Amino acid sequence: MRVEKRIDKPTPPIRVAILGSTGSIGTQTLDIARMHPERIDIVAITAGANVGLLEEQAAEFSPECVSIGAKGGAASLSNHFSCPVFDGSDGLVRAATWLNLDVVVVALVGAVGLKPTIAAVKTGSRIALANKETLVVAGDLIQELASQHGAEIIPVDSEHSAIYQCLLGEREEFVSRLILTASGGPFRKRSLESFGSITREEAMAHPNWEMGSKITIDSATMMNKGLEVIEARWLFDLPPEKIDVVIHPQSIVHSMVEFVDGSSKAQLGPPDMKVPIQFALSYPERWKSDHEVLDWSETRSLDFEAPDLRKYPSLGLAFEALRQGGAVPAILNAANEIAVDRFLKGDLEFIAITRLVEEVLSQVTDSFEDSFEDRVRADQVARKIAKELGAPTSH
Ligand SMILES: NC(=O)c1ccc[n+]([C@@H]2O[C@H](COP(=O)([O-])OP(=O)(O)OC[C@H]3O[C@@H](n4cnc5c(N)ncnc54)[C@H](OP(=O)(O)O)[C@@H]3O)[C@@H](O)[C@H]2O)c1
Repeated sequence: MRVEKRIDKPTPPIRVAILGSTGSIGTQTLDIARMHPERIDIVAITAGANVGLLEEQAAEFSPECVSIGAKGGAASLSNHFSCPVFDGSDGLVRAATWLNLDVVVVALVGAVGLKPTIAAVKTGSRIALANKETLVVAGDLIQELASQHGAEIIPVDSEHSAIYQCLLGEREEFVSRLILTASGGPFRKRSLESFGSITREEAMAHPNWEMGSKITIDSATMMNKGLEVIEARWLFDLPPEKIDVVIHPQSIVHSMVEFVDGSSKAQLGPPDMKVPIQFALSYPERWKSDHEVLDWSETRSLDFEAPDLRKYPSLGLAFEALRQGGAVPAILNAANEIAVDRFLKGDLEFIAITRLVEEVLSQVTDSFEDSFEDRVRADQVARKIAKELGAPTSH
């Protein structure tokens, strides 16, 4: 077999919108745009609260529109930008459906990503999806919508990008398992008995990745891996029993696919989100970059171990929510968003995060249809309960 050789003709730059350009994934997407100015044209960017950074980004990239999080905030900011300014959730939709977009990078955190992702999918643009919460809330409905509108969803999460790459050229019937790797977060070696005294600072100190605060806490509880299992279920259309999680502390193997003949494929690289972000933009091409590569002359070990579900009950809760299906993952997600927010504000202990989620799951008794409206309703019901419940302290 020969590696394909091709001489590329110059193509016009792709028109890209970044929802959440001021966050960790958003700013790294702009780094990719700086690296490839001839290939990427940034035409829409959005912020939540960080208007100062949005202004700097707009001055550098001259987008055709911007949006900010605070509803009603656009009017007072229009003289800060030389393009139309939108706001709130409608502003995210305007940016996600801006003229002739090739790619919408959804780099928002939380279920706020759902509405603009639905809007972007309906335009048939490619979605470079970092916002896993959207697929947790309504992955079944989003995938159905994407196939109706011919929209392509390319994952940005490093694990799902790895699986996507391992699956290229393979047939679904030959896949026996997806294996998501997890670093194990900052508490892999900490004794379960001392989990009660974990501080915010300790939980925020991820050993391998620098990320936004919500995903950093989700990584410490391993709810992040649970959300990724649900994300994988919808991205790759495989049942939960074909998705496994393994701890791999070095974060070099980004995930694996096992096939029915006993062979496995893995995708490897240093922990750097710019690689999967760029892949989601460049696919089916690969663009030459100056990203760090692995030095194979260095002695290194790659370790793997099973996750300890007593330490990480969130992972078990997420698998259970996925098995129950319907609106249950949306309830899990909303409860977790509030629990993490309460932990970050000092209103909950670390171990109470998962307990609160468990409590909310048991308290929501409404029934929900399989529609976007009902997923949003489930999200709202769960958020309300999660905000009102007292902080759980013991089981
Ligand atoms: N960071 C990583 O390395 C990484 C890796 C894999 C997957 N992911 C996933 O990627 C997503 C983004 O993560 P992140 O770490 O980049 O998060 P982040 O740093 O917290 O950034 C989130 C972005 O969303 C914006 N935002 C938040 N709430 C908003 C609202 N209500 N309305 C409008 N905009 C809002 C923020 O704006 P302001 O900052 O201006 O308020 C920011 O631009 C998450 O789903 C995460 O799980 C992240």
